[in-house]
Amino acid sequence: MSESIHVPVLLREVLEFLNPQAGKIYVDGTLGGGGHTEAICRCGAKVIALDRDVEALNRTERQLRTAFDTAPFPVRFAHANYRYFAEALDMLAVEKIDGFLLDLGLSSDQLADPQRGFSFDSEGELDMRFDPSEGTSCRELLATLPEAEIADIIFRFGEERHSRRIARKIVEAREDGLPLQTAQQLAELVRRCVPKSRKNPIDPATRTFQALRIAVNDELGSLQSALEQLPERIKPEGVAVVISFHSLEDRIVKNVFRDSRYWEMMTSKPITASEEEIARNPRARSAKLRAAKRLN
Ligand SMILES: C[S@@+](CC[C@H](N)C(=O)[O-])C[C@H]1O[C@@H](n2cnc3c(N)ncnc32)[C@H](O)[C@@H]1O
Repeated sequence: MSESIHVPVLLREVLEFLNPQAGKIYVDGTLGGGGHTEAICRCGAKVIALDRDVEALNRTERQLRTAFDTAPFPVRFAHANYRYFAEALDMLAVEKIDGFLLDLGLSSDQLADPQRGFSFDSEGELDMRFDPSEGTSCRELLATLPEAEIADIIFRFGEERHSRRIARKIVEAREDGLPLQTAQQLAELVRRCVPKSRKNPIDPATRTFQALRIAVNDELGSLQSALEQLPERIKPEGVAVVISFHSLEDRIVKNVFRDSRYWEMMTSKPITASEEEIARNPRARSAKLRAAKRLN
């Protein structure tokens, strides 16, 4: 298994808000390549790290065990959806934590793995699950969902104006006995339905891929559920930091932090990456960070 190629976004800002210190315990609900977790541990704190992706979890555990080769090792790992972080805390007999971090979406490692079906050119199965051992793959969804539901997903989560035409073509392919099997086939189908914009150079398949990934993993449901449970398990003055990459995610975070009597917003506007960080790590371009403090 190779090393993670993922570069953590807004790392300095995450540390500024969380202010990790010796004796404190943090949950990193989206461990990925472990960049944020490692930095929190370097400040002397402990981390309970969750990821739905067992491959990412194993690779990062191996990397971090090499990085921190003196006892006691500062990280506890759990293969879990972060929406079940409270169960993970119960299993570890931890009642309340000092801080909570989510860095949403997928990692560069997952995007680069052709077997996962996240990238346009992958010839492996169109899967898109963070945890391939549970739930329904994108290929299965597109082979079974009614046309109207496919269109609805692509419109709601991808804000794709051509969602109906895309859904029609997906269903036509399966009616012809040629259901989509790979991400490459899906990308080609979408490109045939969506005219290329001269103003916007992104691949026309981007919005559809993002929408389907969000639906396959119920990403918005996990986010809403975790944020609703958090006040119970975070100490007064404890800080929650969420980095999102999609306007619907950011809206959930903003609404929960603004409307709940448990939180004091620490970011009036979302924090974004500097030009310098974007030049170094283009993935940071659409990142939005919001932080809030648990009120007493
Ligand atoms: C953007 S990456 C995190 C990168 C990480 N912060 C780092 O510094 O390397 C997102 C990770 O979250 C995981 N993930 C996404 N949704 C999840 C969920 N609901 N529960 C647990 N892990 C999730 C993905 O599998 C992926 O590894």
